[in-house]
Amino acid sequence: MQQQLQKVSKMIGNTPVLKLDSVDAGLYVKLEQYNAFGSIKDRPAFYVISKALQRGDIDENTIIVESSSGNYAIALARICKLLGLTFIPVIDPNITSEKEHVLRLLCDDVHKVTELDETGGYLLSRLKAVQEYKLNNDNVFHPNQYGNEDNYQAYYHGLGVEISERFDRLDYLVMSVSTGGSVAGISLRVKEKFPNVKIVAVDVEGSVIFGGGPKKRKITGMGASLRTPFFDNALIDEIMILSQEEIVNGCHALLKKQGLFSGASSGAAYYAAQEKIRQVGNPDMNILFIAPDSGDAYVNNVYNEVWIEKYINQPKYEIA
Ligand SMILES: Cc1ncc(COP(=O)(O)O)c(C=O)c1O
Repeated sequence: MQQQLQKVSKMIGNTPVLKLDSVDAGLYVKLEQYNAFGSIKDRPAFYVISKALQRGDIDENTIIVESSSGNYAIALARICKLLGLTFIPVIDPNITSEKEHVLRLLCDDVHKVTELDETGGYLLSRLKAVQEYKLNNDNVFHPNQYGNEDNYQAYYHGLGVEISERFDRLDYLVMSVSTGGSVAGISLRVKEKFPNVKIVAVDVEGSVIFGGGPKKRKITGMGASLRTPFFDNALIDEIMILSQEEIVNGCHALLKKQGLFSGASSGAAYYAAQEKIRQVGNPDMNILFIAPDSGDAYVNNVYNEVWIEKYINQPKYEIA
């Protein structure tokens, strides 16, 4: 397995940074879709599994079970496949059909919860299903992206280093949040080199991370219906809460103005970065935003006019 671990480690990280078109600032994006398994989540998925192997928490017979409806599940599924480990994703009906299809191709067992939890979402139902599986089976490992410190350590030792090394000066770093693992690890690392950099965390209306009340969200990949302890470690200077409409606009602007086909959380970060550039009004500043994944999984939602009209432009559906 050691050789396979080496091989997989070479497939993750060192993603490109692009300078985008802007006369109002030095505007940069870190393109995380270029990790081999398609997203920023390749980093914590690999880090968590390799650390658990090192500690002896996982052997070749361990069953890995994780609650994720998105990129983290895809990353774990592909990494486990390459390492010869069994992975069971716990998903919910909000998963995109493309992601569910890929997971079902990669994993013999996929557990789909259907019961809404008390917040009106599925996250707590998914976590309950993981706990039940752990109670009823031996040799189960739960990577626990909502609580495992290795989630944010992955970013402290990986993406945070790459960003710090890439720039001589950085004024703003803008990133969308969910578990908070990335903003915690990256902010801690980047502020070691740039103590004055402002970290802007971007969230979506209806997410509870920064204290707003829960509301049904149609945008996937960012926001959460629980706040993890990682946010207590994160060095966040500013919070921007965007509406779903602003996030869709950000995605379309990123495509039309910059030629980048990216996921919802990237469009959100781009929108927030543009807002920041307008507020600050200093063309000499350097601002970096993170694009966690590509637009491929968003073709039938964020990039689909019928979906936008139904779920974003009609408020009654937004809350439904
Ligand atoms: C597409 C996308 N964007 C942003 C994030 C935010 O990352 P984190 O969970 O580290 O806060 C995630 C994580 O779920 C993601 O999948």
